[in-house]
This record gives sequence, structure tokens and C-alpha cells, in this order.
Amino acid sequence: MIGQDTIQRIMDATRIEEVIGEFVSMKKRGTNYVGCCPFHNEKTPSFSVSPSKGIYKCFGCGESGNVVGFLMKHEHYTYPEALRWLAKKYNIEVEEEQLSEEQIERNNERDALFHVSEFAQKYFATLLYEDEMGVAVGLSYFHNRGLTDKVIKDFGLGYCLDQWDGFTKYAKTNGYSDNVLEKTGLTIFKEGGKSFDRFRGRVMFPIYSVSGRVLGFSGRILTNDKKQAKYVNSPDSDIYNKSHILYGLYQAKNAISRLDKCYLVEGNIDVISMYQSGVENTVASCGTSLTIEQVRLMRRYTKNVTVLYDGDKAGIKAAFRAVNMLFEEGMHVRVVLFPDGDDPDSYAQKYGSTQLQDYLRDNETNFIMFKTKVLLDEVKGDPIRKAEVLNDIVRTISLVSDLLERAEYVRQCASLLQISEEALQNEVAKTLNRKLYENLNHKPDPNDKDLADAQTQGEQQEEQKPAEQPQSQVTPFMINPAQSQEIKIVSLLLNYGNELLSVDVTNEEGKTEKENYTVAQMIVGDLLADELTFADPVCQTIFNVYAEKIENGETMIDPQIFTMHDNEQVRKFATDNLMVDYHISDNWSEMKHIYVPMPEDRLREDVTESILTFKMKKLDIKLNELDRQFPYLTDDNEKLMLIAQKMSLWKIKQQLGQALNRVFC
Ligand code: CTP
Ligand code: MN
Repeated sequence: MIGQDTIQRIMDATRIEEVIGEFVSMKKRGTNYVGCCPFHNEKTPSFSVSPSKGIYKCFGCGESGNVVGFLMKHEHYTYPEALRWLAKKYNIEVEEEQLSEEQIERNNERDALFHVSEFAQKYFATLLYEDEMGVAVGLSYFHNRGLTDKVIKDFGLGYCLDQWDGFTKYAKTNGYSDNVLEKTGLTIFKEGGKSFDRFRGRVMFPIYSVSGRVLGFSGRILTNDKKQAKYVNSPDSDIYNKSHILYGLYQAKNAISRLDKCYLVEGNIDVISMYQSGVENTVASCGTSLTIEQVRLMRRYTKNVTVLYDGDKAGIKAAFRAVNMLFEEGMHVRVVLFPDGDDPDSYAQKYGSTQLQDYLRDNETNFIMFKTKVLLDEVKGDPIRKAEVLNDIVRTISLVSDLLERAEYVRQCASLLQISEEALQNEVAKTLNRKLYENLNHKPDPNDKDLADAQTQGEQQEEQKPAEQPQSQVTPFMINPAQSQEIKIVSLLLNYGNELLSVDVTNEEGKTEKENYTVAQMIVGDLLADELTFADPVCQTIFNVYAEKIENGETMIDPQIFTMHDNEQVRKFATDNLMVDYHISDNWSEMKHIYVPMPEDRLREDVTESILTFKMKKLDIKLNELDRQFPYLTDDNEKLMLIAQKMSLWKIKQQLGQALNRVFC
């Protein structure tokens, strides 16, 4: 674990342009650096790095973030891995938080578990080729199933003898203790000290971590004996947690990155068959239904996943729940359904690799359409069941983070469901807005003890995952009439919040004096005085942070706290609006930044104008709302009150108009 102090020292020493410069060739343009984006294919540079703001952004594909985010994205590092990389580059000694004796002991024990697992893998793999039974039974089984020696090696496959304790004895003569044999589950101990091998007479599939360490095994029987379990798996241990691991990821990860796509299948053999057929970017969840940790692991390599289904309707429907999780994590989900009775492996063995690849290409459809069709198939004109389907689909669509993608789903599903696009869109918008507010208002408390404990535990896993908050990347459909004004105000806060302005204030004796305020103090003070709020929850969140800090007497507020914020949408808003208005011309000759240092007068005007326009807009919205209510009022008194309210709003509007005019005089 890296302590907060160390993280701070690393961040202080880090220069983003130097770090990114190691991976991207860039030229200096004004205060920034530009080059060709490493995250998408391009010939003209639209990737920009701002040293002063500590962020990068690509104007072509929209990727953006801070230096740690860059390393995580580009190098597929976890959060601590990225920090260690930076620490090494800048010669900063990483002070790992003191490990307790208990922790040290546990680490030693984990090492021993890794060790014996690797030992077992080598043993099983050797038997497959060198033992008489191994060759006759194990190897011929794999060959019969059409696997080549190359993939058998690539996946480290093996064979375990059909003996009670062949492995256990061999491991003990090699010095492995009962304790590690029991902890890895390779040996089962009975009361009274009797022990025997967990895996007997099976072909063995080792399960690797992302970095290629053996964590556990899955063993398949060689017969069709229905009384025995087809697969026996290692139990979870200090090094193996089956819900955190994707089978085949170690072999698939480079292909997944390169092709920016991952196939998700059900079985180990499916993974291996796909790989052998040239579809190397394939993984399986290790005999469990998909978990959130597995999805996040996958997302380190790509956002595009195609789920391959075989089997019957019931099985497919049961798997829908897992797919919602993929959406929630911002993945783009597609699906391929295999013909009845075939799984990817049997299909590949029957028809060969070319036909498998063609099949995958020609039968890929978007998941939501697929789901809608499957569910609608069972409705058969029953309106109640149709309403249930509609609800289910609305929930799923609202999980899609990309606005355009979502709009497309609404369009397609409306026609499938035979309802108007508008009605479907409204339902989705309702769900989205509800979720967005819940998400922003009930963020997990970082001081929450259980949560903190859970995260520390996570840190000790061998394959660390970025300490990410559950994210909701949803953008509401609802049109926010004051949106551009809200964005303008928050952009001013982010870009100019710390600038000082001298302002005329009237003192107690009625005399005007000049006083210095920061832009943030002016904006926050003014909006709070009128109790104005933002319709956009992200803008409101950022504003709240400013308000809180100013109320605490902080005057200099580093906008980088937002580019590192734990809410993905806030991060995105901050990077987008901090890097706004760059213009990269085609011939690279110039690059403009509209937020050049502004003369004080111009800045003061801009701030005042923005506040006034925002208020004006708010008034317009309120007036419109009153107009809409009017026809529904039946009581005359109510009508009179509404008219009075309108008149007073009109008066304020007039004053605002005059003030706005004065700004320009
Ligand atoms: N599985 C398991 N335990 C079982 C059955 C299945 O852990 N008793 C897991 C395995 O990871 C298996 C996956 O579920 O790979 C899919 O099961 P299934 O479709 O039955 O097996 P296949 O992968 O098709 O295996 P095969 O083709 O060898 O029958
Ligand atoms: Mn199969």
C-alpha cells in the first residue's frame, strides 16, 4: 500500500508532458503539447497535453484524464502500478505503509501458495507428454477434441494420474508443507490425518492471473460418467478468487487490446478452441456467473464485449442479469447466438476456423435488440407481460452510458415494442434522472469503515484493480434549458476561479470602496445570495465544492481536484471544460486558446454577464412554468396569486436587463 504522503510527493514531482512524451511524440504549441493520439488511429494530431492543468485530452476520440489515468489506459496499469512507475521515473522512494507482522506472514504464505501452484502446473503438464497414461489418456483426449500441441502448451494444459495421492506424495518429497497443499486445495485432508489429491484422473486446465502466475486449476473428467462432476475446480484461496479472474485473459489480453474487443464465452474449452481458430481475444468467467470484478478486469483492456450464447432460452434469459452489469460499467455490448446444440468449441471443431470467424462476423447483433426480441417472443399479446418487458428494456437502455448509442437503442426498441419513440425516451429519461441524482447525492463515504476495509483487502490481491468508485456515466435525456449558462459559469470557475478582481463595494457609510475578490468568491457569493441552483447535477456538484471551500476560507482552489474527482462525470466535465476551445488547425500552424489571460476589465465583464444571463434564464424558466400552470388553475384566488408572482418576476427581469445593459456601456 502506498501512503497518501508518498502519492502527494509523486504527483508533485510528476510532469505530465514528460511522462506522456515517453509514449507519444509531441510538439510544443503555445503552452501545450500536441501529437497523434495513442488511443485511436489518426494522421493529423488532435491529442493535446496541458502541463499547467496536468491533463491530456484527445479532440478526435474524446479520451481525457490525468497522468495516472494515462498510464492506466495506455499501459494497462492498475492505480498502484501507475504510481510505482511514476515513483521509479522520478526517483521517489515509495514508502509502503508499514505492514504488520501478520501481514508479512500472510505475504510469505501467499508466496508459498504461488510456488506450489506453479509446481503443480509443471507436474501436470509434464505427465501429459511424458507419462504413459498421460499420453495414452490425457493427451489423446485433447487431440481427439481437436486441440493442437501448440495451444496445449500455450494454455499449460496437463493431466493428473488416476491415483489417490500421486501428486500429494510427489509434492511432499519436494518439500511442500501440508499447510500450503491444503490451502491451495490441491490436497484434501480428512479427519485423522488421511489425505488425498483433489484432482484424480482428469485433464487439467491451469488458471492464470493476468501476469501469468498459476492461481488454481480446473480438471475435467475424460468420460461421460454423469454421476461424477464434469469439472472439479480449485477452491478459493488466498491467491485464487474465482469471481475476480477471467479464464484465458493472460493469453488473450494482447489481442483484446489490439483488436479493442473481447469475446465472452462460457467454457474453458471454448476459450481454447476460439484461440486455436484465430480468435485469440476470448475469455470465460471461471464457471461462475459474471461478476463486477471480472467486468472491470475486462474493461482494463477494452470497452467492447461480445457475449457468445449457446443453449436454450431459459439459459439465455438467466444470463441477461450479468449483462446489465456490463452496461453499468460502460461497456458496449454485442451478442452472437450459436445454432441450437452448438457451443463455440463444437462449432469450431465441426466447421473450421474460417467458418467460425464468418459466423461471428455475420451474426453479431446489438444486445438490447437481441434481448427485446427474446423477451417479446414470450409475450404473446399479454399486455401485462408486455409492460414488464418494457420496464426491463427501459432499465437496460438507461444503463448505456453513451448518449448517441442510447438514442439509437430507443429508436430501434420503440419500433420493436410498437410504442412511440417519444414515450420510450421519456421513460428512459425518468429512470436516468432518478439514478443520476441518487448517484450524486449518495456517494459512498470515504470514511466508511467497511468500505475502507474492503479496499485494503483488495489492495493485497495479486492483481490489483484500480480503486474505482461505482460509476454512473449516464447523461440525462431531459433538456436543461439553462444548460449553456450553467456550463459557462462552471467553466469560469474552473478556468478563472482564482483570478483576482477589484470590485466596487458600498460600505456602511454609503461610500464606494475597491475590494479584491476572486472570481470564484464573486460567483459563489452572488448565486448563493439568490439561492440559485443548477439543473445539471454535475455543475451543481462542482459548484458545491467551490461553495464549501470558500465558506471555509480557502481562496485558491486547484481545479485539478475535479480532474481527479471520484465521480467519472465530474472528471469528464472538468477535463473537457478545462481544455475547451483549443483550436488545432489542419496545417498545425497555430493553436488558439480562447481562455487566454484576460485583461481584468474583460474578465469582470464576463463574470458579471454570465451571472446575469444565468439569472435571466432561470427567471424565464420560472415564468414559463407559471404560464404552463395557469390553464389548470380553477380557483380565482390562485389565479390572482399566480399573476402577482408573474408580475414580480417581470420586475426583477427588467432590473436584470438594465444591469446587463450597463455591463456593455
Ligand atoms: N463448469 C464447472 N463445473 C461443472 C460444469 C461446468 O465449473 N460441473 C464450468 C467450466 O468452467 C466449464 C463451463 O462451466 O468450462 C461450461 O460448462 P459446459 O458448457 O458444461 O462445459 P464445456 O466448456 O462445454 O465443456 P465440454 O465441451 O468439455 O463439455
Ligand atoms: Mn463444450
